[in-house]
Amino acid sequence: MRIGIPREAWPGENLVAATAKTAEQLAKLGYDVVVESGAGEAADQPDQAYAEAGVTVVDRETAWSSDVVVKVNAPTDEEIGLLRRGSTLVSIMAPGRSPELVEKLQAAGVTALAMDAVPRISRAQSMDVLSSMANVAGYRAVIEAAHEFGRMFTGQVTAAGKTAPAKVFVVGAGVAGLAAIGAASSMGAVVRAFDVRPEVAEQVESMGAEFVHVDMEQEVSSDGYAKEMTAAQEAATALMYDEEARNADIVITTALIPGRPAPKLITAETIAAMRGGSVIVDMAAANGGNAAATQTGERVVTDNGVVVLGYTDLAGRLAAQTSQLYGTNVVNLFKLLTPAKDGQVTLDFDDVIQRGITVTLDGESMWPPPPVQVSAAPAAPEAAVAQPTEKEVKKPLDPKVKLYAAGAGAAAFAVLSMFMGGLLLQQLTVLMLAIFVGYYVISNVAHALHTPLMAETNAISGIILVGGILQVGSSNLLVTILAMVAILVASINIFGGFLVTVRMLDMFRKD
Ligand SMILES: NC(=O)c1ccc[n+]([C@@H]2O[C@H](COP(=O)([O-])OP(=O)(O)OC[C@H]3O[C@@H](n4cnc5c(N)ncnc54)[C@H](O)[C@@H]3O)[C@@H](O)[C@H]2O)c1
Repeated sequence: MRIGIPREAWPGENLVAATAKTAEQLAKLGYDVVVESGAGEAADQPDQAYAEAGVTVVDRETAWSSDVVVKVNAPTDEEIGLLRRGSTLVSIMAPGRSPELVEKLQAAGVTALAMDAVPRISRAQSMDVLSSMANVAGYRAVIEAAHEFGRMFTGQVTAAGKTAPAKVFVVGAGVAGLAAIGAASSMGAVVRAFDVRPEVAEQVESMGAEFVHVDMEQEVSSDGYAKEMTAAQEAATALMYDEEARNADIVITTALIPGRPAPKLITAETIAAMRGGSVIVDMAAANGGNAAATQTGERVVTDNGVVVLGYTDLAGRLAAQTSQLYGTNVVNLFKLLTPAKDGQVTLDFDDVIQRGITVTLDGESMWPPPPVQVSAAPAAPEAAVAQPTEKEVKKPLDPKVKLYAAGAGAAAFAVLSMFMGGLLLQQLTVLMLAIFVGYYVISNVAHALHTPLMAETNAISGIILVGGILQVGSSNLLVTILAMVAILVASINIFGGFLVTVRMLDMFRKD
């Protein structure tokens, strides 16, 4: 089969569906790949690069008359007219929001596969173009904001004075939101973020931001997407959005529920109360925007000097990299569609990914596909969660018991000290203090510091080992036995540490 990569028709579109590298990978699956002349120019992929990769550069008609046409954006009416009956079209289509497009594709008698309808399951991640593009777009949103913002993101203490870090508030912690959080915090900003899905709080914190908690009922999502908010949730979040946005220098909004217009979260009153020079990047602009002042595709400056960016081409502003990611998603999809690597597309509707992306099949509508229950963060049903028994629940010790135990210990120590020689007493005191301090220090070390802790305990074990070796030849049998036990325990710690290190290093070895 021949795969054609046409030039994108949307004005200002820089992306291309296959770079020279990914076109070559498609060819390795047995396809004859052709690319329309100039298709990759805006993505740093000149015709020559394709030619050098063994891909034939052709004219528009030849690219469109291929058995399979792979592109980025949904086809225009004129492009649908260029498709051959019985051919296959692969592109972003938003079929849920464009019933008229589905009808046109039916009328054209083609098989249409929507790259943006890949279900959010782990196996499909390598084909998920929305995630690839949102990831780049989230990063670029921060760059655009930094460009508009008249100050540095990072705080500094210099001889010439102190500068405060920029405060960034991110709304929606999906793919784009998390990428924006990562970029902004790596640039030194203080980042806060909110999402209606409570399960993302941990991800937000792991990217270096603080999750803003709101006192309301929040439901864990079963499919990786948010549900529309209830009136009570809306009321509870409205105040928080207002406060957070007023305090922020930069607001990046990404809130969206697929198939719905973007929720309006940042009101005109909030924007009017923001400081002049603040920036809002509304990533949901293509779907109406999350901020009241957003104009799709435009840069707006409000009367109080707040810059509101409604750009919808953020991923396309890093065209070479986004095209490479999109192209790799396409290659991964074709690996699935071409199990025999014989250059023939075979659709298997028992596979949820292939069924999920099929919008039309030889002119027959296949939309919508049966719902796929994905387990982005399955909420454990309450009844199924085993409740710890009373015995398992660790109860804090009664303070009275602690007091009696301490008193008994002190009395025993006093009695012992009356019968012990000076040196032995001194050593016993050191041992008891060491146990006491060691217990409290080690039990309070954060998980993140366990590796350095392990290194330190290895060093201590080394000292114990040397001490044990020095004492093992003692004339006192008890000392010899204790020294042997010390040597054994310290050796287990040291050699066990080495074994664990080797296993960890093996995890990073490619072979
Ligand atoms: N402007 C661009 O160039 C560009 C490029 C790529 C993606 N996008 C847009 O960025 C947005 C995010 O994309 P994504 O892939 O990260 O989607 P996503 O579904 O992964 O993330 C959206 C997040 O918004 C959250 N959300 C929904 N309603 C909310 C509310 N009322 N308050 C707080 N959070 C809420 C969801 O829980 C989800 O985590 C989309 O609107 C997408 O179209 C824009």
